[in-house]
Amino acid sequence: MSSVNIGRIDKASRMAVFGGGGFIGSHLIKGLTAKRYTSVLCLDLVEDKLQRLVPGAGFEFRRCDIRQEDQVVRAVIEESDLVIDLVAYANPIVYIESPLEVVELNLFDNLKIVDHCARLGTPLIQFSTCEVYGKTGGSEDSFNEDTTDLILGPVGNHRWIYSCAKQLLERIIHARGLRGEIDYVIIRPFNFIGPEMDYLVESPSEGIPRVFPSFLSALIHGQPMYLVDGGGSKRTLTYIDDAVEAILLIIENLDRLRNEIVNIGSPQNEVSMRELACLMRELYEEIAGEASTARIMDVPAEVFYGEGYEDCDRRIPDISKLARLGWRPRHDLDRTLRKSIQYYCATRLASR
Ligand code: NAD
Ligand code: UGA
Repeated sequence: MSSVNIGRIDKASRMAVFGGGGFIGSHLIKGLTAKRYTSVLCLDLVEDKLQRLVPGAGFEFRRCDIRQEDQVVRAVIEESDLVIDLVAYANPIVYIESPLEVVELNLFDNLKIVDHCARLGTPLIQFSTCEVYGKTGGSEDSFNEDTTDLILGPVGNHRWIYSCAKQLLERIIHARGLRGEIDYVIIRPFNFIGPEMDYLVESPSEGIPRVFPSFLSALIHGQPMYLVDGGGSKRTLTYIDDAVEAILLIIENLDRLRNEIVNIGSPQNEVSMRELACLMRELYEEIAGEASTARIMDVPAEVFYGEGYEDCDRRIPDISKLARLGWRPRHDLDRTLRKSIQYYCATRLASR
């Protein structure tokens, strides 16, 4: 057992951001460098989003596969004052097509990072997911980190394997925290969206990104916007800049949030997927200044994703923990979608 220093993070602290080349990670690194954190090390398989989003230097990138390079991971954690772990498969099509790979990476490989943090006394910010809440139980209006039940569908609907793996990761971190072995904060993000999310596709044969890039791809390329099972499922969408402000606030308040689970989301931005498709089409046409030929089409989940899919019906975060620290999301749904679409229209025009 080692002593941990969760309260001693400052601008010169050495931070290791695993999975920092992804959607959230690249925006977070942009936020950290803008806030003048001086020692940010990003470890990932890819760095293209960092090149597009983070102006100039101020951080170091190291290519690293956490599945293969455990000694590198350990050495980095030994030299760090704080570890932020974002590594995961985070796209529902992967949960359907490769459920075992999801458990391997999202649980077992991430547990190695947890173990190093515990043995070396390095505090950990672990990214989990709002998907751990699963389906709504019916009674609450919003999901609370400490009181809401976590309700998953049957094993045969293997989409839940992501949620289940993340839940077990949370429970193991919690249990090690109870034994005084690790200082941590677990973050549960609620559908962040914004620039550089996943990837754009010209047709579904190139893959299925999450819903915002999926609909945007369809709008740009005049392909169908597919509504899974009628589009009645609801999500609360969070603009990535609000999310990064919340993460930075968590980093500044690690001592107050020690061994807590924290939701980050925008409870006011609830929208059904059918409404989202219509809103995005309207905004896209306004911003791009051209009509889109994309049609909104219904598709059954087993056709779109394959067997084993089941959806979360709605999920609204209780954000009172962050509200107590003074955070509230500043982007309503219109501004969230507008800024996200504007980024893509501007970069597309610039590349013509
Ligand atoms: P992302 O896929 O953009 O980022 C994940 C990053 O992990 C990628 O850059 C990927 O290259 C990297 N990675 C994957 N395998 C790796 C390996 N073997 N070694 C090193 N790096 C590897 O996803 P994201 O949206 O940025 O999500 C980040 C985290 O937040 C994930 O843990 C995800 O489960 C969680 N999360 C995200 C959201 C959201 O709204 N985007 C919501 C809930 C939870
Ligand atoms: C996602 C992922 O599991 C994780 O990235 C993350 O943990 C979490 O949500 C999050 O972002 O907070 P989900 O919200 O289901 O899960 O992911 P999307 O792929 O964005 O799907 C949202 C909804 O849109 C679902 O109802 C899905 O069926 C629907 N959808 C998706 C469509 O109707 N059409 C599409 O083209 C894509």
